[in-house]
Amino acid sequence: MSVKTRVYEGKAKILYTTDDPEILLAEFKDDATAFNAQKRGSIEKKGVINCSISSQIFQQLEAHGIRTHYIDTPAPDQMRVKALKILPLEVVVRNIAAGSLCQQTGLALGTVLKKPLVEFYYKNDQLGDPLLTSDRLFLLELATPEQVDTIAHLALQINKSLCDFFGRCNITLVDFKLEFGLDAQQQLLLADEISPDTSRLWDNSKQSDPNLRVLDKDRFRRDLGNVENAYQEVLQRVLKAIESS
Ligand code: C5P
Repeated sequence: MSVKTRVYEGKAKILYTTDDPEILLAEFKDDATAFNAQKRGSIEKKGVINCSISSQIFQQLEAHGIRTHYIDTPAPDQMRVKALKILPLEVVVRNIAAGSLCQQTGLALGTVLKKPLVEFYYKNDQLGDPLLTSDRLFLLELATPEQVDTIAHLALQINKSLCDFFGRCNITLVDFKLEFGLDAQQQLLLADEISPDTSRLWDNSKQSDPNLRVLDKDRFRRDLGNVENAYQEVLQRVLKAIESS
């Protein structure tokens, strides 16, 4: 497979074309950003760790009937993916209140939600990825009503599957962000990545200290230290859970 041109560079990944127009190569970067790139840094080995975690999770989801863009992992920090038309939506699923939900609603950090909350944000860096109402989503024609229904359904299915999986890792899945894209047949597929960069993961074995529990990008956002160790810990637990399944 010969790598061709760089088609897109995001905050965490670079996408390259390949000799197959239906396949892209995603290279995961060590660069870390937060607060809409106002905070910048780097997390050692993050590219390799997130590529490995995402690859394993996509394969788990595929095994549970969720279609994803994942093809394979030709190098530790590289993932071959199906070329999709990515919808400009960030779909957040929340099980426990944290982050912007607490800031915007006053709910206390750690409040367990009675049922998972699915939220749609406009994927637009210039506007700071604002939370959408469904009327605004349709006003901007970001997706059709059928696509929104399908995405909401898929998001809850993925949440269930991931909660079970992370449960086996002794980790609580607090919340996470998904992106979806359309293939040539207009089928919706899960895209992007699922990793400690895009989710909140709390260690169940460290119940005494809330900060010690954090195994995700909040360690970078909130300067909690030991960021790489936390990401490594997630990867080790993911691999162990898969090995013993
Ligand atoms: O910041 P907020 O609480 O809305 O984030 C909810 C979840 O979505 C978190 O797990 C966060 O890491 C993820 N997220 C993301 N990319 C964004 C915004 C949020 O991965 N642009």
